[in-house]
Amino acid sequence: MVASVSKCRVCKQPAVIDLPRHNAKFCAEHLLELCRRQVTKAIEQFAMFRSEERILVAVSGGKDSLAVWDLLIELGYQADGLYVGLGIGEYSDVSGQYAQAFAERRGLHLHRVDLRDQYGYDIPTAARATRRVPCSACGTSKRHLFDRAALDGGYPVLVTGHNLDDEAAVLFGNTLRWDVPYLARQLPVLGARPGFPRKAKPLCRLTERETAAWCIVRGIDYQVEECPMAAGNRHLAYKAALNGVEEDSPGTKAAFYLNFVERMAPLLAGQRAESAELGECQRCGAPTTGEVCAFCRVRERSAAHAPVPVELLLGSKRRAG
Ligand code: AMP
Ligand code: FES
Ligand code: ZN
Ligand code: ZN
Repeated sequence: MVASVSKCRVCKQPAVIDLPRHNAKFCAEHLLELCRRQVTKAIEQFAMFRSEERILVAVSGGKDSLAVWDLLIELGYQADGLYVGLGIGEYSDVSGQYAQAFAERRGLHLHRVDLRDQYGYDIPTAARATRRVPCSACGTSKRHLFDRAALDGGYPVLVTGHNLDDEAAVLFGNTLRWDVPYLARQLPVLGARPGFPRKAKPLCRLTERETAAWCIVRGIDYQVEECPMAAGNRHLAYKAALNGVEEDSPGTKAAFYLNFVERMAPLLAGQRAESAELGECQRCGAPTTGEVCAFCRVRERSAAHAPVPVELLLGSKRRAG
């Protein structure tokens, strides 16, 4: 946010933020209004959910997921939260505290799942045991636990805090590789299938800066640190590249993603691999193409491995680099 003497486009009071992509500055009140409008537009444009549906919001303790939870409650939806303790040292402990504190202050219900307590492993250990980048085991674990919590809790829809910057960066990566099956599934809402709840991203029309500003104006404390295990991953490089383009040409990021969704994604509808026959995982019953699902494979390998503290993993990563 910028301290500025310039005026809000709407009410001409002093502005608190300059949003070049809207070619305008806004005061706190009208920034909130813009956020509410963009989220309402996303929900309606992509038919994400109806007002009577119970929503489960995956909350990481970061700005985006707390902002989307706050926005949905403000807009009158019934939304509970879900925090997954990934066991990434202090980063996870602090993230969980922010999620819990937000829920308590607003009298909201937060479900908690802890990988180590309930499944016998954590993400640093999984990274070592599977010998893959941490985000791989992390993504597999989160997706599985989100689906499971939504289905077990009777929530027809699971919401995540993915914002416009996230979606544009993933789209950029998928486009650089022309990864057609991934491109075909990169939608702001994915319908339910047997064993999967509907998934929705109501912040897909808001940037990271806008969701951070929402939290600041609304007085929401959030985890500011990035995950220590994600440092140096490609997603961050794609975000930085797009930010460079955006700086020269405001609005490009939104056009790239939103025009993809509107114009290109419909052409790819036939490429979605959703029709593949899915059986049931022999361990947990989740849908899978093999005998044992990806989550159970990660869990079995990781639970059998001696616990690896995150500091050890980061230390060896630094030495290797
Ligand atoms: P990320 O994959 O870390 O970029 O996070 C994307 C979205 O996943 C966040 O906006 C949250 O909605 C959700 N999420 C990430 N980490 C967690 C977590 N530990 N517990 C619950 N939800 C999470
Ligand atoms: Fe998943 Fe960092 S949050 S690896
Ligand atoms: Zn104003
Ligand atoms: Zn399984």
